[in-house]
Amino acid sequence: MEDDDRVTGRDIVTGKAKYAAEHDVPNITYGVLVGSTVTKGSIAAIDTAGAEKAPGVLSVITHLNAPTVPGYDAGGAAIKTPVGGKALQVFNGPTIYFNGQPIALVIADTFERATHAASLIKAQYNKEDFQTDFNEAGKAVTALEGARYKDYIRGDIAAYKAAAVKVEEEYTVPIEVHNPMEMHAITAMWQGDDKVTVYEKTQGVKSTQRIIAATFKLKEENVKVFAPFVGGGFGSALRTWPHTIAALMGAKKTGRPIKLMLTRMQMFTLVGYRPYTLQRIGLGATADGKFVGISHEADSITSMYEEFNEGTVNVSKSLYASPNVITKYRVYPFNISTPTYMRGPGEATGAFALESAIDELAHKLNLDPIELRLRNYAEKDPQTDKPFSTKFLKEAYELGANKIGWSKRSATPGSVKEGEWQVGYGMATGVFNAGRGTAKALARIYADGTLIVQSAVSDSGPGTATAMTIVAADAMGIPTNKINFQLGDSTLPPGPTQGGSNTMSTLGSAVFDVCVSLKKKLAELVKNESMFHTEAIHNPEPKDFVFENGFVVLASDRTKKISYTDILKKNNLNQLEVTEESKGSEEMKKYVAFSYNVHFVKVLVHPLTGVIKIDKAVAAADAGKIISAKTAESQVIGGVVGGIGMAMMEEGVIDNRYGRWVNNNFADYHVPVQADVPHIEALFVNKPDFILNPIGAKGMGEIALVGFAAALANAVFNATGKRVRELPITPDKLI
Ligand code: MOS
Repeated sequence: MEDDDRVTGRDIVTGKAKYAAEHDVPNITYGVLVGSTVTKGSIAAIDTAGAEKAPGVLSVITHLNAPTVPGYDAGGAAIKTPVGGKALQVFNGPTIYFNGQPIALVIADTFERATHAASLIKAQYNKEDFQTDFNEAGKAVTALEGARYKDYIRGDIAAYKAAAVKVEEEYTVPIEVHNPMEMHAITAMWQGDDKVTVYEKTQGVKSTQRIIAATFKLKEENVKVFAPFVGGGFGSALRTWPHTIAALMGAKKTGRPIKLMLTRMQMFTLVGYRPYTLQRIGLGATADGKFVGISHEADSITSMYEEFNEGTVNVSKSLYASPNVITKYRVYPFNISTPTYMRGPGEATGAFALESAIDELAHKLNLDPIELRLRNYAEKDPQTDKPFSTKFLKEAYELGANKIGWSKRSATPGSVKEGEWQVGYGMATGVFNAGRGTAKALARIYADGTLIVQSAVSDSGPGTATAMTIVAADAMGIPTNKINFQLGDSTLPPGPTQGGSNTMSTLGSAVFDVCVSLKKKLAELVKNESMFHTEAIHNPEPKDFVFENGFVVLASDRTKKISYTDILKKNNLNQLEVTEESKGSEEMKKYVAFSYNVHFVKVLVHPLTGVIKIDKAVAAADAGKIISAKTAESQVIGGVVGGIGMAMMEEGVIDNRYGRWVNNNFADYHVPVQADVPHIEALFVNKPDFILNPIGAKGMGEIALVGFAAALANAVFNATGKRVRELPITPDKLI
């Protein structure tokens, strides 16, 4: 095995890995949710008799007979959601907020019987007029108010309007849905009234534990959450959704364990989506390409019961050195389920608009788009005036431009052909905050020389255990094949939720720090060894040692060493362990940190059919130090594939006559398949950021996608002269 081969790879591809719905539990039951067929109103009557009499059915839960959920009484407060408002309180009343909202849970002894019985439920509704037409935002639908919608103003907000050259355009991003390969699912069992164990698809085992505990008023330690494997999330598993609470109610009602997996269709309505957003960009520059001002306005959507926000306009505050900036962010409630963070949340939407507009401005200025960006390069953070901890965006521009062959790009749109196909090159910058949170990790070394490292994090796909194993191997001087990183278990020391491109920085640092502490303990155990006492060193300290190849070695005389195994044996120890909490430094407060990724694409566009073929995609990232080359490359490839979907295919469609989804299935909602994906090259500047954290890694997950859609739109313009400002860029928009 190579050092950065995925430690769980064999288990995943051979099917040994168990996902949330795959855990065998004796006496299991199966839950199937029934959704509302109306979009707004209330349930007038619900007939469950047929379902209850159907073969194998154990129980049917509706708002009329649901077990008490103590957290519901406390309103929204007890059940904190990552957003404002309160989570949908499933089966807590007759009110319908969106089409597909769960109105019943059928529990049977087999999945098929539960599915059949679910089809027998009949509901009558008091229907009310609803609104799902997003064009009514700002017209029939008024924006939410509050502190979170305060405009950001820097300098003179009207400045851009008076600039010598300007762009004023609107850009639209439709609803997009995460659709990870693994459907959301839970397997749950109660142990009495006050203890519960769940296998859950989640990006945060600790956050899921907290939410379940708060909802059912249980002690946190009485809620055990396991997520050893997660088949993708992209943000959809950042929070606990109503189906999880419904399943726990179901298991309580029958007194038996339950398994509940959403259907692919339910995945479109019950676990969030990237919200539709309309953006207006005003961008003005001097004749020589210096930004005079940026105006960035975004109108987005949320549900009627929760207030979802994301950083859509943030890109315009920090990415470029513009003296004058105004951003406005508005959110409008509709009769639809709550959106959530989806890969590159906010920034991905915002970067499509801003980075398209910059390309439009470059064209008007007759300037190379990279040159225009360099002329407005921010040497310090324009929003806070603080220095960047590190910023190697210029290096990323250069790496990517060389690799794609940017010099072959013609500045005249539609002027280059390869056979029948029009050729275009495009690029755009992706950016995302590089943060570091708090995490705990445990490291335990055994007398046989193996090391276990633990933290309650989950791995939704990036290869967390693999990367953490590499961090521990480097720090401890132990080969990766002697290290076992354990995760996906809420009883382990609390790790971060895997989101916001934070896991490597936050948990990687905790793993590093706990290894440093373990090395100190080893040093403590050997400091009295006479061989380590020299003329110069009477009382050796950890700094006098190096830790390599499983040995504590005297730095000043490397012939003097003792193996970890011998240290433990000599001290009659089977194992030696330490737990550390790790968090951001005071020093970092003087800085801001971002990760960057510059996307380059070469496209071929057919002038008759409007078909776009991506010939080549190159992504050049400044993500700090790359810990694991292979998993980092895989992150970028996955993000670009998501970007291709966003740019060219993905579009959630709701029929406003019924308020119901039209394309909530994989036949009609298109995502990239193998034939849509070109060779993707991931390049890294690979320079460490030791101010942000001790391992030097910034985040990767979000920037893998952020900016790609604009790069593609810019390439299509370069190929055809047609500017598409409404995603996805489908052939019909080009002919
Ligand atoms: Mo990410 S959208 O924080 O999973």
